[in-house]
Amino acid sequence: MNPHPVRTIGDLRLGNHATFLYQNEPEHRNVMTRFVRQGLERGEKVIYVADSHTPETVSNYLRSERVDVDSHLDRRRLVFLTSSETYLRRGVFDSERMRAMIVGEAERALAEGFAGLRGTGEMTWARGSPGGSEKLIEYERALSELAEKTHVLMVCQYDRSSFRPEFLLDILHIHPLVIVGTEVCENFYYIAPAELEDHYLPAARFRVCIENLLVRKRMEESVLRSMEQLRHSQKMEAVGKVAGGVAHDFRNLVTAIMQSAELLEEEFPPGDQRREDAQKILSAADRAAQLVTQLLAFGMRQELKPRMLDLNSVVGSLENMLKRVTGDKVELVLLLEPELGAVKADQSQLEQVLMNMVVNAREAMPDGGRLTVRTDNVTLEPGQCRGVPEARPGKFVRLSIADTGIGMGKDVLEQMFEPFFTTKQSGTGLGLSVAYGIIRQHGGWITVDSEPGRGTRFQIYLPAIGADRLSAARTS
Ligand SMILES: Nc1ncnc2c1ncn2[C@@H]1O[C@H](COP(=O)(O)OP(=O)(O)O)[C@@H](O)[C@H]1O
Ligand SMILES: [Mg+2]
Repeated sequence: MNPHPVRTIGDLRLGNHATFLYQNEPEHRNVMTRFVRQGLERGEKVIYVADSHTPETVSNYLRSERVDVDSHLDRRRLVFLTSSETYLRRGVFDSERMRAMIVGEAERALAEGFAGLRGTGEMTWARGSPGGSEKLIEYERALSELAEKTHVLMVCQYDRSSFRPEFLLDILHIHPLVIVGTEVCENFYYIAPAELEDHYLPAARFRVCIENLLVRKRMEESVLRSMEQLRHSQKMEAVGKVAGGVAHDFRNLVTAIMQSAELLEEEFPPGDQRREDAQKILSAADRAAQLVTQLLAFGMRQELKPRMLDLNSVVGSLENMLKRVTGDKVELVLLLEPELGAVKADQSQLEQVLMNMVVNAREAMPDGGRLTVRTDNVTLEPGQCRGVPEARPGKFVRLSIADTGIGMGKDVLEQMFEPFFTTKQSGTGLGLSVAYGIIRQHGGWITVDSEPGRGTRFQIYLPAIGADRLSAARTS
């Protein structure tokens, strides 16, 4: 990305070379008024080479915008010249002479204490100069380098109704910036002088068109991808809010049911059918409470008890439990990074995440396979975060859970984090949504790689607190 993108007239800077291809007089007036006024405001010397408009017309544009034109003219902050004093001096256009003139004017402007030189020329004179178009094109091409080197801002004005389309097309290709209407476009079609080795513009033009086809296609794809990601994260956000809100209210109801059922239970002696009924209410309410807890986790409304943690010891403390879950048919492999950074997290919540993931992996490998739990440190650079909406550059601790199971297709991948989404007969569809909510609440995110029949790898990213402070966490 350009560090200084040019999008409007106001973004134009010294060193830029632009063409203004205008359609009508209002457009000309609008752009030129802004262009000249901005130069004056920025303390630049403005030279306007008039040809199709008189200096008086342009001055009046500025006066109507309450620019004190006469004082600027008196102090030679604004200078009008004609094409016969510049481009067509001694009756012919001489590209080299013109460039020398610009260099001279730029030096003079600086010597006079201006911030720089801002020049613009009406090019209508070039219509009539026979054989001039080739010289003109050569001049314009050289101007891009000259403008940059001498720190001059140049805008060449072409009235679209006055030139042949073939000529305008050439002009379009040799300016790095194009003003269309009042917009400034970084020129997609620009052919830098260096790209024109063969000095044959049509060949270069064709190359540029072909390249641009691909560039455009990639841009479209990336926009579509971003839109899709945005849609998905907005959906998760909305579902999370609803789930969290409902769960919050539901928790109070469940508590009330439990309290009443407990009172009721005590009313009746053991063996009484009504006591058993009360117990049934209690155990159902208990399950409801668990569900509520999971929904709260997904909605990121759990109360966290974070502390400095070593993720390896979280995995370690669950190892026996993990072995029990995976059973004999599945090989459990732990690859734990010894120099792992610390995270600030709620231990029991992370245990929950790990368990949910491991249970899923186990269920994805009915005929056995390998389950790999891995920890490592990762540093993400800005360029590596594309494609994951929550991802950001920085240092992270990563927990990966990979299986060699049935994998997932596109449809499942799109919905797996949604609460109650399940492909299993007796699934709850809450394992991944709970994991999603917990990790988001910890300032992290989860990525997944999976293909049908090729296994699945979940990667959980948690912000690293810094390796130096981990030793403190280990010893405490
Ligand atoms: N490791 C995995 N391999 C294949 N599919 C998985 C895996 N983990 C999750 N899934 C898919 O995501 C769905 C949602 O998972 P989860 O939220 O844990 O709910 P549940 O396990 O109750 O179905 C699963 O039904 C399954 O289709
Ligand atoms: Mg599950």
